[in-house]
Amino acid sequence: VRLAVLFGGRNGEHDVSRRSAESILAHLDRDTYDVTEVLIERDGQWRVDGDRATFAQALRILGDQDVVFPALHGPYGEDGTVQSMLEWLGVAFVGNGVFASAAGMDKPVTKKLLAADGLRVAAGVTLRPDEELSSRDQQRLGLPVFVKPARAGSSLGVSKVERWAQLPAALRLARESDAKVLVERGVRGREIDVAVLEHPDGRVEAGPPLEIRVANAAFFDYDAKYDGGADFHIPAPLDPGTTRLLQDRAVRAFHALGCRGLLRVDFFLPDPDAEQGDGWTGDCREPVINEVNTFPGFTAASQYPQIWQRAGIGFSALLDILIEGALQ
Ligand code: DAL
Ligand code: MG
Repeated sequence: VRLAVLFGGRNGEHDVSRRSAESILAHLDRDTYDVTEVLIERDGQWRVDGDRATFAQALRILGDQDVVFPALHGPYGEDGTVQSMLEWLGVAFVGNGVFASAAGMDKPVTKKLLAADGLRVAAGVTLRPDEELSSRDQQRLGLPVFVKPARAGSSLGVSKVERWAQLPAALRLARESDAKVLVERGVRGREIDVAVLEHPDGRVEAGPPLEIRVANAAFFDYDAKYDGGADFHIPAPLDPGTTRLLQDRAVRAFHALGCRGLLRVDFFLPDPDAEQGDGWTGDCREPVINEVNTFPGFTAASQYPQIWQRAGIGFSALLDILIEGALQ
C-alpha cells in the first residue's frame, strides 16, 4: 500500500504534529506500507522525504498514493483545509472529512452542534474581534472562566482567569491565535477523555475513559500535555454506569459532528454539588463536553493511542484499522 504521512503544518501545533508523525512512522508496518514522508514546514514550504518540493510536486506525490495519513493538528491541517485538498486530488485519506474537521476545529461551532443534539456543554460566550465581555455575562459566567482562541489546539492561547482584572491580558493572548475568542465558565469536576474509533466494518466503538490528573499546573496546559505534567489513569476509576454514559455521549458527539474514523471527546464529569450555570435541566451528573479533537495527539505522551493500547489495540493495529477504514 502506497501511503504518505502528512505532518508539520503552519500553526503553533507544528511540533506536536512532528511528534505525532514520529510515533506513527515508527509503528507503520513497512512490509505492508510503502511510506512517503510529506512535511509542511512552519512557513508553508513542502518537503517530500526530506527534499524541498514545490506545492505542485507535493500535490502530484500526494495524489499518487493509495492513501494519505494527515497527522496534522490545528488550523491549516485539522480544520478541513487539507482534507479539502485531498478530496480534490481524489485520494483516500485517514480520518475526518472536510465538514467534521472544520466544525471540530471551531470551539463555539462545536458547542452549538453538540448542544443541538442534546449534549451538555459548558456555559460560554463568543466574542468577535472588537467585543468585550459584558458585565452581565461576567455575572452569569462567574469565576473562574477559561479564555480560549476559537480555533487552536493543545491549549495554545488558553488562560484560566480567576480575577476579572486578568481578563484583558487573557483576551489579548487568545486573540494572538484567533480573532474569535470563547470565554467559558470553568466546570468544577473531573477531567475525562474518551476515544472513539470507527472500525472498517462501520462499527463505532468508544474506548475505556481516561482520567487526567494535573500535578503542578492551573490546568492541563501545553507543558502539562507534552512535558509529563499530568498523570493518566486508564481506565478512569468510575462506576460502570458512568463509564457507559461517557462512552454513549462520546459516540453521540462523533455522530453529531458527522465524524469518520476517529475522534477524542474531552469531558468534565461535573461535581454534582456545584452549580454549573449552564441552564442544564437534566440529571446534574450528565457529563459536560469540553471539546473534541478530530485528529487527537498521536505522540508517545498522548491519550488516544494509550487508550486503545489499554483496550488491547496496539499502536500498529490502530494505524491498520484507521488506514483500512480510509481505503473502504
Ligand atoms: N490538539 C492536541 C494534539 C490534542 O488535543 O491531542
Ligand atoms: Mg485539541
